Amino acid sequence: MKILVFTEKPFAPNAVKAIENTVNASGNELELVEMGTREDLLASVKDADGLIVRSDKIDAAVMDAAPRLKVIVRAGAGYDNIDLDAATQHKICVMNTPGQNSNAVAELVFGMVVMMCRNQYNGKSGSELKGKNLGIYAFGQVGRNVARIAKGFGMNISALDKFVDDAVMEAEGVKPIHEVERLFSDNDFVSLHIPATAETRGSIGYDLVMKMPKGGVLVNTARKEVIDEAGLMKALEERPDLRYVSDIKPDTAEEFEKKFGARVFFTPKKMGAQTAEANFNAGVAAAEQVIAYLKDGWNKYQVNR
Ligand code: 3PG
Repeated sequence: MKILVFTEKPFAPNAVKAIENTVNASGNELELVEMGTREDLLASVKDADGLIVRSDKIDAAVMDAAPRLKVIVRAGAGYDNIDLDAATQHKICVMNTPGQNSNAVAELVFGMVVMMCRNQYNGKSGSELKGKNLGIYAFGQVGRNVARIAKGFGMNISALDKFVDDAVMEAEGVKPIHEVERLFSDNDFVSLHIPATAETRGSIGYDLVMKMPKGGVLVNTARKEVIDEAGLMKALEERPDLRYVSDIKPDTAEEFEKKFGARVFFTPKKMGAQTAEANFNAGVAAAEQVIAYLKDGWNKYQVNR
């Protein structure tokens, strides 16, 4: 059977080699399309039985073009790029690879936070993380890694996640918070790890950001869609002490950069999971999951039912 790996943003070479080895050893055939266009995707998916993608948009049109497609694995955590209802209608199983790239994302949080605290290394005196308050919004795989690293910096850590018991957080030395307003009012840094869903889209805006203490930094390695950009912009205008750092440009990035200069920073492409280690872990896990599904219907991480 044919397994198509289609990624606009390429995996590291070590990950590609390992995916190739994994697919070859299973007796399936691999087609690799890196930095492909939508036309490339529609053409190469025609005879694919399994599909591995990253943040690539997989909608009903792609599925219509893929009559043999049985399984899609998103090599990563967030699957908001895949139309789950369309997949269910097409009888396609969709899975993600939870946890495989979470350390990489968590490390980038601190890479960006330190950079902001040192004024993007412009020579002016900055500030330290030790003793500061960090609020983690969603205590999933990435949030837990962020907490682990924050301990090393000597930060006071709290988290909000309605799906996680307080005891789980407390066992990690993390203070549970139950109101989103308090997450913002009580923390010098708020790090977002919520998925982009109907409930969370545009949910972080003016009212919440304005609650942050003096000098607050909002850190977004989740999805740009969770931010209400107009609201955040208004808050940054009214509060010259606040800063915003995001792994991927907001839609209105140019306006943010023009208005706020070094108070904002955006990666040009989503870089959180873009490490050799994360690519290897997520890529190989995705290949193994596609192979296992095609072989005997293994679907442990299915996200559409
Ligand atoms: C994820 O959801 O796993 C991360 O956002 C990484 O996305 P990427 O594979 O497009 O880098």
